[in-house]
Amino acid sequence: MNAEKPDRNLAIEIVRVTEAAALAASRWQGRGDKESGDKAAVDAMREVLNTVEMAGTVIIGEGEKDEAPMLFNGERVGTGNAPKVDIAVDPVEGTRLLAEGRPGSLAVMAGAPAGTMFDPGPCVYMEKIVVGAEAADAVDLDRPIAENLQAVAKATDREVRDLTVVMLDRDRHEVAKREIRDAGARLTLITDGDVAGGLLAAWQDRPQVDMLYGIGGTPEGVITACAVKALGGHMVGRLWTRSDEERQQALDAGYDVDAVLDLDDLVSADDCFFACTGITPSQLLRGVTFSRTGAMTESLVMRSKSGTVRQIQAQHQLTKLRRYATVEY
Ligand code: FBP
Repeated sequence: MNAEKPDRNLAIEIVRVTEAAALAASRWQGRGDKESGDKAAVDAMREVLNTVEMAGTVIIGEGEKDEAPMLFNGERVGTGNAPKVDIAVDPVEGTRLLAEGRPGSLAVMAGAPAGTMFDPGPCVYMEKIVVGAEAADAVDLDRPIAENLQAVAKATDREVRDLTVVMLDRDRHEVAKREIRDAGARLTLITDGDVAGGLLAAWQDRPQVDMLYGIGGTPEGVITACAVKALGGHMVGRLWTRSDEERQQALDAGYDVDAVLDLDDLVSADDCFFACTGITPSQLLRGVTFSRTGAMTESLVMRSKSGTVRQIQAQHQLTKLRRYATVEY
């Protein structure tokens, strides 16, 4: 066995980035303004991200340069010094949740060695299944959901009726919803936020959810994959197109829309980093809270190489920060 000295854990540094994004975005909780909440998070995230010692390239960002002035795909972030890192950001995962003042919005970021993160290009959606480690070999996107549920139940020594599936509440899931109900599993429908659903499904030490199933964002899928690697769970996905035109666009860009993507296809590195901070409260994390002098945040920080998962509660002295920080808290 090769003994290695402890090395740098980038996740510990990127949690400052998600904390800053969450603090800034939280001012927009329930104010009915999706764009301002997102912009506050992007601006804060970028300021702190550029202090991190790395040569980062945004693979999953806010979109193409012309539409997204900041944190666009291909943008260079960090100080520019080694290591070279692929970066995925979702400054507000659940923009609608934040704007409507509902539970479940997060500031999220992931990193992996350069060249190891799946670049979804024009592919907006993917079908996903996420499960915990024990059920890793039990799921198969080519099989009906009922069979997957039976296999997960068997692998985890339970009955299908003991299992809880999380799925986005979307019209495109009507058939899947019926199949899950017919199979007898418990179903939690969420209005937004399948990254958190994926985390809970993969995280065996928090046995609240057994499976995430459904079609959600491809960027969210790649980000989820980084966390799933750290949590030791499993994930499979397949690109999903809304129309023949979108399918053709993906094919023209060189994507195989029928292929099943496993965890290593989504992020091939074994040393990836993930951090997220709660903006509004959820099953996963507390949201940002404010007191007379400051604010509290709660975050999760993970690294796949070691499998260490940290839950960090931070107290932020806003009166002090305001004296020097360029970020508007
Ligand atoms: P945003 O914060 O970008 O709005 O994403 C929220 C979300 O619910 C994701 O968690 C999910 O993957 C995606 O939207 C699903 O897309 P859609 O709302 O178009 O079905």
